[in-house]
Amino acid sequence: MRLEILKDEEAMSRRAAEVIARAVREKPDLVLGLATGGTPVGTYRELVRLYREGRIDFARVTTFNLDEYVGLEPHDPRSYHAYMEEHLFRHVNLRPEATHLPDGWAEDLEAECRRYEALIEAAGGIDLQLLGIGRDGHIGFNEPGARWEQGTRVVRLKPETRQDNARYFGGVLEAVPERAISMGIRTIMHARRLLLLAAGPHKAEIVRRAIEGPVSRHVPASILQLHPDALVLLDECAASQLTRARALARRQEQASG
Ligand code: F6R
Repeated sequence: MRLEILKDEEAMSRRAAEVIARAVREKPDLVLGLATGGTPVGTYRELVRLYREGRIDFARVTTFNLDEYVGLEPHDPRSYHAYMEEHLFRHVNLRPEATHLPDGWAEDLEAECRRYEALIEAAGGIDLQLLGIGRDGHIGFNEPGARWEQGTRVVRLKPETRQDNARYFGGVLEAVPERAISMGIRTIMHARRLLLLAAGPHKAEIVRRAIEGPVSRHVPASILQLHPDALVLLDECAASQLTRARALARRQEQASG
């Protein structure tokens, strides 16, 4: 696992967009895994800027999002479909048929999970997966206790996660769906590269546990320690509780000049 600590959230977002843009330049038909939530908003803003400046071309890129709530229509403004339209899809030249999110409105949710997993496989697997981290260590919506070997599936959200996301539902906890469809840990770990972002002091403790603690199902993000090509980008606040990893990041930085 490689770690870079950037001075603030804006610098982290710029660096994340740069990593994605370079991956697309190296492989124009990149299969890109996307995340939602507050953390990647700045990264998407940067990607849109790079696109407008002609420095990234999404014409041949395929995307797969990590997750979607169950029970929200795709046109519901609180859905992750709507989030992606707002922050990225409508601003760049991604082909609509090449963007994918699980359908949380599907009648047969189990079949939808199988369909989604098969679509990822048919696309040749994910080349680069963008990730955020929940305060309880979740990645995608794989909450503590999730089994490593699971693929895309229906998950039940923990109260803490629903509380954190209530801000998108007028602050009303009860309005936040109780279930979501999420790529599983196995789906995520099969991606050839992972890019995890975290910013802000509220992420500092879980970042320390994920990066410096033992690999454990109680902290799903800790599995990234076992991935052969995972890059973690943190701002100073999110990195503030690191000890060993921080020293390592500094040495890596010095070594790379
Ligand atoms: C989003 C996702 C979640 C978020 C996590 C952090 O697609 O899968 O794992 O990345 O909940 O959310 P924010 O960025 O809002 O703190």
